[in-house]
Amino acid sequence: MAVDLLLGLQWGDEGKGKIVDVLTSKYDIIARFQGGPNAGHTLVFNGRKHVLHTIPSGIFHDDTVNLVGNGVVIDPVIFKKELDKLDEQDVNYKKSLLISRKAHIILPTHRLLDAASETAKGKAKIGSTLKGIGPTYMDKTGRNGIRVGDIELVDWKNKYRTLADKHQAMIDFYNVDIQYDLDELEAEFFSAIETLKSLKFIDSEEYVHQAQASEKSILAEGAQGSLLDIDFGTYPFVTSSNTTAAGACTGLGVAPNQIGKVYGIFKAYTTRVGSGPFPTELFDKDGETMGRVGHEFGATTGRPRRCGWLDLVALRYACQVNGVTELIMMKGDVLSGFKTLKVCTAYKYKGEEITHLPYNIEEQNITPIYTEIKGWDADLTGMTEASQLPEALNGYVEFLEKELNIPITVVSVGPDRKQTIHRK
Ligand code: GDP
Ligand code: IMO
Ligand code: MG
Repeated sequence: MAVDLLLGLQWGDEGKGKIVDVLTSKYDIIARFQGGPNAGHTLVFNGRKHVLHTIPSGIFHDDTVNLVGNGVVIDPVIFKKELDKLDEQDVNYKKSLLISRKAHIILPTHRLLDAASETAKGKAKIGSTLKGIGPTYMDKTGRNGIRVGDIELVDWKNKYRTLADKHQAMIDFYNVDIQYDLDELEAEFFSAIETLKSLKFIDSEEYVHQAQASEKSILAEGAQGSLLDIDFGTYPFVTSSNTTAAGACTGLGVAPNQIGKVYGIFKAYTTRVGSGPFPTELFDKDGETMGRVGHEFGATTGRPRRCGWLDLVALRYACQVNGVTELIMMKGDVLSGFKTLKVCTAYKYKGEEITHLPYNIEEQNITPIYTEIKGWDADLTGMTEASQLPEALNGYVEFLEKELNIPITVVSVGPDRKQTIHRK
């Protein structure tokens, strides 16, 4: 059976966690395929909020297998904290949470290297979540990384020491003021490794292959968003993995011709956390309103998210790169009360009007060209049926469908599982 994908189409935080949780009842397996604890996926149900970083968002469903794929990078310390939270809520994950032996491990020194690199960059910093993501993927592609399968071997600590010593020399080389106590960090790390070892490690590509052969349904859960993709995002202000559809193939071992539906998820406006270009960013009252009403603070770092109008040039690009087959629009409720909404449909670039995403989208190169659309006043948060949605919101959705030529099948009107409207 084909593997379906759910991918963020903007700069992350589109609401992937919520929608994966909503869709989980349709799937046997939920699989993360890239990223790591830089992700913060929020789920709200039964009056409670849960934030997951590495664990797939299907974990609260008893009958679902949750797989952490080979493309993911795992910080055992953060992973243990996530497990502790699940324990507090009596979530039974021992049998249902599987980890790929080929996933790479984030060492304490990877986190320190991330901090040293960002400090050394000064004003040019990426705005990393400082979870060690970049340095861990660098060691992966540099063929120096430590994988989950390694910690089952007797001599892995020698490999660890060699790598951690090399990292320390690199941190010294940066010559920046980073305070740390490595003994303390390592004690915490090795204790968390023991917790990790109590889980089930598998040869995940074989597992996925067998699951497909026995007609099990699989949903691959993306982290971050297309504009943070290492190849197709706003480089260098990106993360260090392929967040787009191709990343699901390499991050799980799924062949391209085995991909089924591609759900593309986007906010009804745009947000970004961290540095980097953002053509439709607002610095006025409207941007402030989006941030306040949408509670736009990072689920991992708590940093305020930058807010702006929807950018259809960027969204179209993301749909193309991913082969999106269905769109899901989040946070429609946040736009209630705006008299007029703006949607960027083209860019003025070097004096010319263009509708594709060019190499340089920095402020000095791009002026967004907006189409104005009538807003709506109604509070959407109590609505459950498509028939209740205001006419102006339907107008907004239909405008986007026409521009992107892809159906919007779900409109989300609040953070709760129940605040989800299926359109067709
Ligand atoms: P993810 O990283 O893509 O899973 O998204 P995050 O969890 O980082 O950020 C999405 C935020 O929006 C979370 O606080 C969600 O609870 C919240 N959220 C999700 N969908 C909606 C919605 O339709 N309306 C509102 N108001 N909030 C939402
Ligand atoms: P989810 O899965 C939003 C951003 C960081 C920074 C850049 C690089 O919750 O949507 P990194 O820590 O990867 O080196 O940071 O990417 N970033 C995210 N922004 N949502 C995320 O994940 C993000 N993961 C990383 O803010 O700009
Ligand atoms: Mg998030």
